[in-house]
Amino acid sequence: MDILQKYNQEFQQNLENAVTKNEPAQLYDPIKYILSLGGKRIRPALTLMVCDFFEASYKEAMSAALAIELFHNFSLIHDDIMDNAPLRRGQITVHEKWDVNTGILSGDAMLILAYRFFEDYNPNQFQELAKLFSETALQVCEGQQHDMDFETRDDVSIDEYIHMIDHKTAVLVGAAMKMGAIVANASKSDKESIYEFGRNLGIAFQLQDDYLDVFGDSKTFGKQIGGDIIANKKTFLYLTAVNQGAQVQADELEHLFTINPKDPTDKISTVKEIFTHSGAAEATKKEIEKYSNLAYSVLDEIEISEEKKKMLRQFGEELMLRNF
Ligand code: IPE
Ligand code: IPE
Ligand code: MG
Ligand code: MG
Ligand code: MG
Repeated sequence: MDILQKYNQEFQQNLENAVTKNEPAQLYDPIKYILSLGGKRIRPALTLMVCDFFEASYKEAMSAALAIELFHNFSLIHDDIMDNAPLRRGQITVHEKWDVNTGILSGDAMLILAYRFFEDYNPNQFQELAKLFSETALQVCEGQQHDMDFETRDDVSIDEYIHMIDHKTAVLVGAAMKMGAIVANASKSDKESIYEFGRNLGIAFQLQDDYLDVFGDSKTFGKQIGGDIIANKKTFLYLTAVNQGAQVQADELEHLFTINPKDPTDKISTVKEIFTHSGAAEATKKEIEKYSNLAYSVLDEIEISEEKKKMLRQFGEELMLRNF
């Protein structure tokens, strides 16, 4: 993405030097592997950009950005185990390339490595950053547990779903941005506003991820298409189709989301059709827009130039197109 390019290049160089140890190989190789697969690096770039926007040298936010990206990649390794996912960033997942135990421990090590980056800050900033990080990481665990619980529940509400994606995904986007503001010593109110901006955009981002899981192209998405359908994930698409679709479609959908066929091809195509014809696909696009607009409305409260606000909005718009 154009806006983030300035930060991405430098971040990439720092990330390559972030993990210096090699032994035991079974612990460090998977860490180097997942980091080498790329990814959009949205969260660390946001940390750096926000620090820049609040008039500090963005390089000061590099350690916080590294912490955020290491945590994100740790969460992906464990998430792929929990979701039984074969593909990540277009390549084989860590637990399939090695095994589940390796994925667990390499993930754990990445979480610790992430925390260590806060040691680079002075005591006041260290405290504020570590506090936000701990709170956020715990919320991510809560969101992930709700996500798993929902697989086998048949009474999940839209509100519960939004709460779940807020925790598993959005709070980290909010925290990534707030960390940039903390490093730049921004005002309390600006720190809160930029957090809310990121959080709303994060909700839109996860709604879109759920949409692309069904309707995306595996090559650009880099993940198995239909993975959420196979795992019976109660996404906005599913919940809206059940609530808004014709009774017979709702009944069929509810049945399909209790079974786990060996060959999921038919299940995926039937579900896809119901998501489209019930209007759930369109409704999801509207919901993505709703949360994006909520994010943009928070920008009014932030004390930065109109030009920078325009760039934050443009970032949101490009992110929702995922044309990068
Ligand atoms: C994947 O996040 C997990 C979600 C929260 C949907 P990203 O789509 O940012 O993953 P990478 O880092 O670019 O691969
Ligand atoms: C991701 O949710 C949330 C976390 C990794 C914490 P998903 O399970 O939808 O993410 P993808 O689709 O596997 O990237
Ligand atoms: Mg997953
Ligand atoms: Mg998941
Ligand atoms: Mg997903």
